[in-house]
Order: sequence, then C-alpha cells, then structure tokens
Amino acid sequence: MTHKTPDLTKFTDALPIIPQLGPHQKGNSFTYYKVRMTECRLSLHSELNPSALWCYENSYPGPVIEVESREKTYIKWINNLPSKHFLPIDYTVHGAHKDVPEVRTVVHVHGASVEWESDGYPEAWFTNGFKQKGPYFRKKVYEYENKMRSCTLWYHDHALGITRLNIYAGLAGFYLIRDQHERSLNLPFGQYEIPLMIQDKSFNEDGSLYYPKQPENPVPELEASVSPEFFGDVNLVNGKVWPYLNVEPRKYRFRLLNAANSRFYLLKLDSGQFFYQIGTDSGLMEFPIGVPEIMLAPAERADVIVDFTNLEGRKIILENHAKAPFPGGKMPDRNTAAVMEFRVSLPLSSIDTSVIPSFLLPYPVFKENSISRTRFLTLDDNHDQYGRELMLLDNKTWDDPISEKPRLETIEIWHLINLTDDAHPIHIHLVDFQILDRRPFDAEKFKKKKVISYTGPSIPPEPQERGWKDTVRANPEQVTRIIMKFGPYTGLYVWHCHILEHEDYEMMRPFIVIR
Ligand code: C2O
Ligand code: CU
Ligand code: CU
Repeated sequence: MTHKTPDLTKFTDALPIIPQLGPHQKGNSFTYYKVRMTECRLSLHSELNPSALWCYENSYPGPVIEVESREKTYIKWINNLPSKHFLPIDYTVHGAHKDVPEVRTVVHVHGASVEWESDGYPEAWFTNGFKQKGPYFRKKVYEYENKMRSCTLWYHDHALGITRLNIYAGLAGFYLIRDQHERSLNLPFGQYEIPLMIQDKSFNEDGSLYYPKQPENPVPELEASVSPEFFGDVNLVNGKVWPYLNVEPRKYRFRLLNAANSRFYLLKLDSGQFFYQIGTDSGLMEFPIGVPEIMLAPAERADVIVDFTNLEGRKIILENHAKAPFPGGKMPDRNTAAVMEFRVSLPLSSIDTSVIPSFLLPYPVFKENSISRTRFLTLDDNHDQYGRELMLLDNKTWDDPISEKPRLETIEIWHLINLTDDAHPIHIHLVDFQILDRRPFDAEKFKKKKVISYTGPSIPPEPQERGWKDTVRANPEQVTRIIMKFGPYTGLYVWHCHILEHEDYEMMRPFIVIR
C-alpha cells in the first residue's frame, strides 16, 4: 500500500487555542458535563483538504476540561460515532469482541485517581447502540472526585484492541486540575498559559488520514508491511500541522503533552533557549529546573515556562531531536524535526508580572523501608503465530489470569526488567509513582537463568523526572525501579505500554487493588 502525505508549507497556520468545555449543569456539590463523540471534518493544514476525524464535542483535540481540585465532576460520555467505519484507515481489531460492527469507545482520564468503574476499563467499551443490546449501550456517566493536586492530565479513548486507531482518529483532549496553591504562585496564566498537544500523522493526497494496514491474519509475505509502531510524516500541535504562534516578549506557560501513537519527542528550541520545567506528569515539581531539552515519550507531560522577553522580532522553532523508532532508529527528517514556530511579533500588552518561583511544592519521598512488596516484571519480545513481533508484560497476554494484586494503601516497588530492544513508556492507572533509578543489567543472562546481574551502577532519575509520574520510560537493557502507593480505591485497573501499537497488541495487563 502506498501513500504520500502532500507537501505542506511549514508554519502557515496559526496554532489553535483549544476551547474549554462549559458545564452542562453546575450544582452546589458537583459539576456535570456532557461530551459527545461524533464524526467531524476539519482541515488540519490550510493546504490540505479536510480530514474525516473523530471528535469530542466537534473538536479535535477535544475541548479542555478544567476542574478545581476536590470538585466532584460527572461526565456523560456519549458515543454518536457512525455505525459504519467511515475512516479510510484500516480498522483491524484483535482479541475479544472483534465482530462488533460499530465503533467501540471508552474514555479514560489519564493520570486521574478514580473509582475503577469510572476509569475506562478497556473492556468496558460501548458503541453508539445501533442495533445492539445488552452491554452495548450508547453512553456512560463517569464520576471523578478530582482529589489530586493541580496537574496536567488528559483524556483519551481506551477501547480494547483499537485504542491506537481511536486516538489517531482524534479522540484525545486535555483535563486540567487546578488548585489554590498553584494560583498563589503567580505563574503565567490566561492567554499566556497554553496547552500544547503534540502528535504525528500521515495523510493521503485527498486529505484523509493515513494509517498503515495491519492485516489481522497476515500471510508471512505481508509481514514486512506490518509495522509494530506508527511514525507519521508530519507533526501536529493542537490539531494543526506545523502551526505558528504569535507571542508577546514575556513569559508563557506551556503544558506539553506527547499524544502521539509511538513517536518520542526530544524537544528543543532552535534559539538555544532553556525551558523552565515546573511540572511533571502529575503535578508541580519541588522547584523549577532550567533544561535545554525535554524528552517526552508517548503520554508523558511537561509543564514548562518559556521566556520570550527581549526577543522581539525573533522566530523560534520548537524542534524534535528524538530518533525514531527510539532509541536505535533514525534521526527525524526535515519534516518530523519541525514541530511548531513561535513568533515574537506581538507588542507587550501589559507588564509581565508573572514569575518563575524558586520553590513550587514540597515533594514527599517514599521511604524504601515502608514497602510491603517488591515485584519483578519483565518486558518481553515474543512472536505471534504469524511471526509478527509481539511485546508482552511479564510474558503474559491480556487474557491471562490477573497476577498483580496489590493491597489497598500499601507501598510497592516494581522492577521493570526490559528484555526488548525498545524503550517502552510504561503507564500505571490509578497511582502516581516516583522513579527510584535505572540500572543496566545483562539481559541475555536473565533470559537464560532468570537472575538479574547488574552490569553498572544505579542511575538516578533525570532532573526532569524528579516529580510525580504516571508514565516512565523503561529503557532497553535496564531495570527501571518505581515506587508507589496503591489507593485510595480498590478495584480493577490496567498497566500498559503507552506506545499504542504495543498496548493494542498485548502489551497491557489488568491489575486489581484488593482490601
Ligand atoms: Cu493514557 Cu491507560 O492510558
Ligand atoms: Cu491512564
Ligand atoms: Cu512498548
């Protein structure tokens, strides 16, 4: 199958500012939202015909859902997607329920601490209900207690076996939790605080989305055309290909999110400027750090301040320097190296009184001696019956019995033992964790003897990772250790690789928090 993303001029479209979702109802003790999923057609670049997409509330990315910490929120997620797959992308599903003719969806707020019934369990999917009964119904009302500190979360589809396609088609948006402490810090806000959702995509000449065909039962000769990851031809930010943003010569706060299927982004400003990182996946850091580059694997976030003061007239390109596939692959070409452009072209409309505080939020460190359990979990390379690459967690597939059953309110350390050649962004639902360290080990020896023999000293987390995380890069030939407390809810959750092609093809496992 051939495709060609048309040649597109860089930095011709303005960066879309994603609209905020208004509540459907605001009670004394709760806020109620409605979010419909529909097909919509949007032009993702002014030289490109409109693409058929799947949208939340007619918007791609989905509207920003903004809540206050501890504000109880209900969201009715409604599937109004067409009953026939209209997308030109191949809609192959694997595993259970592959015969359901309609688009299956379920929404997960990534990084949120919620009761398991509202977490978007991959098998809790629902369709638009057309000609279906029983478990197939059109909508679900989920409850979010939002008991977390201020943080940058995101919501996206999580239906079993097709998450990569549903997100690729547009089903992703920001979910921001705010609190009083964050407001007291005097960070850039309002029009100077902008969420940036970074993704990569490919297009056909007619503007429709391109996604490589992945035959369900591939014949061996086709194997070469089946990609275990997806890397698009162009980058998009907030749903536009290579946009630009006019800025004032002042500080801006950007909430960076890698919402790509597989691509890692190593972000740099071509001016050589630093990012002042103030937050990780799940909230503010202890203090800001100035960094020349930021690595974001799929699903990772970084909350940063960029200072454009005294840069009047400059054009600054946000670039990607990450190899794809990460980490052994090729450097980005001139297309995938460009992400977006900042133009310091607006006059200063008011004095910039925002600050980069020297202290942000205390960061309690888990005591290693308080742990009740240590688990050793492998990331494995395997092959399916057709010889296709298959990545597994702990050498188990989705349907194997649940093996991780942490007890409520106990602290565990997980050793992620990567036996593959790839880096995998491992995400655990429900909890926030801290990265303890990474340590090189002899993978070949482990495969033979099942013992970890370390070949080097322990490497502390990078400064950018010293904060609350819900996704961690597990590098090849390293054991990555994370520590977390399970709670405050019991129930059924999942952990998985956030390379969506891996997640959809067995690199995901259930776990259950028990009393
Ligand atoms: Cu971002 Cu299990 O998801
Ligand atoms: Cu999640
Ligand atoms: Cu993976």
